Amino acid sequence: MKTIPEDWGKLPFAYYPTNYNVRCTYRDGKWGIVEISSSEHIVLHISASSLHYGQEAFEGLKAFRGQDGKIRIFRWQNNWERMNLSARGILMPEVPKEIFEEAVKKVVSLNQEFIPPYGTGASLYIRPLLIGTGAKLGVAPTDEYLLVMFVSPVGPYFPTGFKCVDVKVARDVDRAATLGTGRYKVGGNYAASLASGEQAHDEGFKMVLYLDAKEKKYIDECGPANFFGIKNKTYVTPDSSSILQSITNLSVCTLAEEFGLKVERRKVPVEELAEFEETGACGTAAVITPIKSIQDKEAGKMYAYSDEPGEWSVKLYKKLQAIQLGDEEDKYGWVTVL
Ligand code: PLP
Ligand code: COI
Repeated sequence: MKTIPEDWGKLPFAYYPTNYNVRCTYRDGKWGIVEISSSEHIVLHISASSLHYGQEAFEGLKAFRGQDGKIRIFRWQNNWERMNLSARGILMPEVPKEIFEEAVKKVVSLNQEFIPPYGTGASLYIRPLLIGTGAKLGVAPTDEYLLVMFVSPVGPYFPTGFKCVDVKVARDVDRAATLGTGRYKVGGNYAASLASGEQAHDEGFKMVLYLDAKEKKYIDECGPANFFGIKNKTYVTPDSSSILQSITNLSVCTLAEEFGLKVERRKVPVEELAEFEETGACGTAAVITPIKSIQDKEAGKMYAYSDEPGEWSVKLYKKLQAIQLGDEEDKYGWVTVL
């Protein structure tokens, strides 16, 4: 049995071993049963299509422990839908809803002691992974797949927590092509972002803001999160074929409208950064991460915002967390109580 974290409040966003994961195999054209495993490893064929041709997709969602002691899983249905969008995109079999649901609920229930207590700022990150396991040498989809789900108790994605971060625009790299795989949550997109991400870290930035690959005129997204800007009581977020449809962003858009903000999903020219009163990144891991500055070196621009999280970012962050933790009513049916 794995050890329980000693100090939940100090957990980083990192892999932490837990007792169980769950797995389901696709073979002979059908899915098997959801099995429980206590191994952290998988045995993989040396010619598996996931290893050679990138047939792999993953998801990220969270479970929270409320003040009432209940466990709440946030919007797993949306992650299931998006995993199947990715699966269709790279020719993997879709995962039936019942299997995804059983797997999520099982992996959380089996690892209950690893769900951080209420008030620690930490949560249980759930990582579904779908990979091609069948052997392939020619470039083609394979016929055997594995769905794995594991969990990890995590703290904030940025160790500073809900603090403003510095971001840089990377113009010398394309994260995802305009008509490529950017809207799928597939490993290749992340591989394409590693070098620019590490360079940005070495230069003291927390995230990279990627622009559209075709014209380098519009904002795409922000490392592992969607971008938003707020001005004149309007929440603006990029519409692009090469970004992930963030479930956090979807939720934040709903909350922003409820707060009386207008929501605009559209192309966002990079120069518009000068007009925003607040900017930020949002995602499951990043939650809402407000931005302090955006450097666009090649364009000779530096966009500066407040050092402190802006009024709307704070409101949206608090509201989102309150719903996730069960402190406020979930009017939207986002939360599944286990
Ligand atoms: N964009 C990218 C590239 C991501 O990796 C993520 C994280 O999942 C997001 C956006 C945010 O999506 P979500 O809010 O669904 O986690
Ligand atoms: C998430 O927010 O769930 C992500 O997948 C981000 C990152 C850790 C890849």
